[in-house]
Amino acid sequence: MYMSTDEVRRAFLSFFESKGHQIVESSSLVPDNDPTLLFTNAGMNQFKDCFLGLEKRGYTRAATAQRCVRAGGKHNDLENVGFTARHHTFFEMLGNFSFGDYFKEDAIKFAWEFLTDVLKLPKDRLLVTVYQTDDEAFDIWNKQVGVPADRIVRIGDKPGGKAYESDNFWQMGDTGPCGPCTEIFYDHGDHIWGGRPGTPEEDGDRFIEIWNNVFMQFNRHADGTMEPLPKPSVDTGMGIERISAIMQGVHSNYEIDVFQTLIKATAEVIGYDDLSNQSLRVVADHIRSCAFLIVDGVMPSNEGRGYVLRRIIRRAVRHGNKLGAQGSFFHKLVGPLADIMGTAGDILKNQQAIVEKVLRIEEENFGRTLDRGMSLLNEALDNLQGNELDGETVFKLYDTYGFPADLTNDVARERGFIIDEAGFEAAMEEQRQRAREAGNFGADYNSMIKVDGKTEFCGYGATAGQSRISKLFVEGNEVSSLSAGDQAIIILDETPFYAESGGQCGDTGTIKTESGVFQVEDTQKLGNAIAHYGVLAEGVFAEGDSVTTDVDAKRRKAISLNHSATHLMHEALRRILGEHVMQKGSLVRAEALRFDFSHLEAVTAEELKEVERMVNEQVRRNHPIETNIMDVESAKAKGAMALFGEKYEEMVRVLSMGDFSTELCGGIHANSTGDIGLFKIISESGIAAGVRRIEAVTGEAALDYLDEQQAQYQQKMNEMASKAKTLEKEINQLKDKLAAKESANLTSNVKEIAGVKVLVAQLDGADNKALRGMVDELKNQMGSGIIMLGNVADDKVGLIAGVTKDLTAKVKAGELVNMVAQQVGGKGGGRPDMAQAGGSDAAALPAALASVDAWISERL
Ligand code: ALA
Repeated sequence: MYMSTDEVRRAFLSFFESKGHQIVESSSLVPDNDPTLLFTNAGMNQFKDCFLGLEKRGYTRAATAQRCVRAGGKHNDLENVGFTARHHTFFEMLGNFSFGDYFKEDAIKFAWEFLTDVLKLPKDRLLVTVYQTDDEAFDIWNKQVGVPADRIVRIGDKPGGKAYESDNFWQMGDTGPCGPCTEIFYDHGDHIWGGRPGTPEEDGDRFIEIWNNVFMQFNRHADGTMEPLPKPSVDTGMGIERISAIMQGVHSNYEIDVFQTLIKATAEVIGYDDLSNQSLRVVADHIRSCAFLIVDGVMPSNEGRGYVLRRIIRRAVRHGNKLGAQGSFFHKLVGPLADIMGTAGDILKNQQAIVEKVLRIEEENFGRTLDRGMSLLNEALDNLQGNELDGETVFKLYDTYGFPADLTNDVARERGFIIDEAGFEAAMEEQRQRAREAGNFGADYNSMIKVDGKTEFCGYGATAGQSRISKLFVEGNEVSSLSAGDQAIIILDETPFYAESGGQCGDTGTIKTESGVFQVEDTQKLGNAIAHYGVLAEGVFAEGDSVTTDVDAKRRKAISLNHSATHLMHEALRRILGEHVMQKGSLVRAEALRFDFSHLEAVTAEELKEVERMVNEQVRRNHPIETNIMDVESAKAKGAMALFGEKYEEMVRVLSMGDFSTELCGGIHANSTGDIGLFKIISESGIAAGVRRIEAVTGEAALDYLDEQQAQYQQKMNEMASKAKTLEKEINQLKDKLAAKESANLTSNVKEIAGVKVLVAQLDGADNKALRGMVDELKNQMGSGIIMLGNVADDKVGLIAGVTKDLTAKVKAGELVNMVAQQVGGKGGGRPDMAQAGGSDAAALPAALASVDAWISERL
């Protein structure tokens, strides 16, 4: 019976749904709050605390199709990928889980029923293993299910290994839930080499493990002790690629539908024909881990998770290069991947453009160093004495040019050289040390301080209260009392101080006893306890003391406004920019809010304005901000926006603001959106490929911001005004100078009528004030005479006449100007020695001025 991978996934989930299991979505590849884990590597990761009894959910049976990555961490399959039939950097694990519900019997029966009834696998092809001493599991298989004893293999601890170090004892890591397991194997047939589990040939490809059922019974501590779990539980895992291979009648995982599609797509984008080439498999495998890691928020970088992602991308690019890829190709596989992943691909479809962009940029960057590295390498090989390339050069290629050592090795080998692996390893060891440090995801608080208790948080409605000191720590050690000046951590029975979480920063304030005051500088979670960090300002504190708690309420209020505004802005961004907008990070402080989200291009000024307007509109609507506690499923049904990959408790807090925004959130918010007062964006920038950052302010901070802006604006205006004044002054001075010059020129037009000097001229563009100055100037120069100037500026006619005192008995400036004015549609008059007038008919000016000579001669 043929089944596509997507059909297998659906069949598995619906089978377990019919057995009373809650279908739970795959969690993120980046484990939430688990510093012991680099990437999610098994279906049980997200349920770790359920097994340990630390977390309760609304169900005790669950089933998932979990995306997993095994690269760069404890389980690192990277080097094998592409060269074996079943190693992948990325795979999906189908799993069913019982949290203190059913145990061995049901787990075994469910697995058998699914394989033989639903998938209809022939029973005689199946073989099982049990842990050496697990008679109970042996009997269930043998007596209840009917698997013959000779098809049940007992597997013990590894010879020479520690207790419980066995293929049939599963543990997530050095610590955490673990237990004996039973594994189900499929016999691919005697035409394939390999032996039954437990034989020396077990690593062959004939008998393939398809399903691991773990009977979770212990919590393993760092010192090796095994503490029994509160309730025995079940954790199972079946690699979807392996079971799909069986359902599709093929032997290698690379032959299943998903990989065939990706291999063909890779061959096509590279332009390569031979589909059997192993490099195609490598690329087909790597696009899956790379694309989904980016979906889950990992970005290529030089440290931690981002560094692993970068290595995988470069390995893929190098293999593409080997096949002759020209230009970037890797990102072109995201589309085919999203399509072939069925329901598991939906989350990728939402972010396809961003994932493509991140990959393209990374590819292009490596493309540049790839060429430079190749020439450096070739040069080094050209000049090589002997046949071994030194480790330093290999490391330099690795470190500076991003060359994996195997690429360097391949090139060297092609030219008949070897590389100094030991020298390279030594140089690498230092780097690994750095990577390890970078990969240590801040677990130190937890390892330093163990707080078993739980602090009740009572700060949603209050900022002050009474409590009791339950624990005190100084420099990581528990102490029974504090004295003045001690930097310490205080744990209380209950507290109104909010511990940093979900992007919202921790509260500050004071904790007082009758005799002392502790200044709380920060509040953080330590396990389930709330830790107040700060300094004892005065007095003495002792364990058991009664205290009064007092959160800095003004700061808290400002934080809450910013948090509520963050929700409004998140929703507004989704509505305006699109559904692909996903939260990538959030920081809510008293001063401002900062929100990082996936989006390809810079947000335009218009879009920002729209976001601002939409948020402020919701502020004005003054929606009450309501919180409701409900189970996750009801929250989802309500359409609550949940952060992908966040782990939520059984009952979640759903925060809604009218019909505009509904989000899961444990943070502190305003009472209604109107409290925000005003929302103002202050910056937008890019922080990584495909990730934008907006910073904004609210409430009083927004007013302060606007005031400051206005003050700056005002200052600029004042500066500009005084500059304008200076300029105006300078212009007038220049004009006067110009007028003087102009009048000097005009004197050449002076003629004599009956022995009297007469100057008649038309100027254009001069201003009237300047004309007056000019007439005075001309009178001076001429000593005795008559002046008539016409001027056209802005289509208006300006007229001015001047007569020196000795001539005013005969010719009056007022009459002269009036005579001309009448001809240009105006009227005027004035003193006998100086008169001005205006007119509107500029075209008539030349003729009017031409009539002046005759008019003057009549009077002389
Ligand atoms: N957690 C178990 C595994 O990964 C099922 O094999």
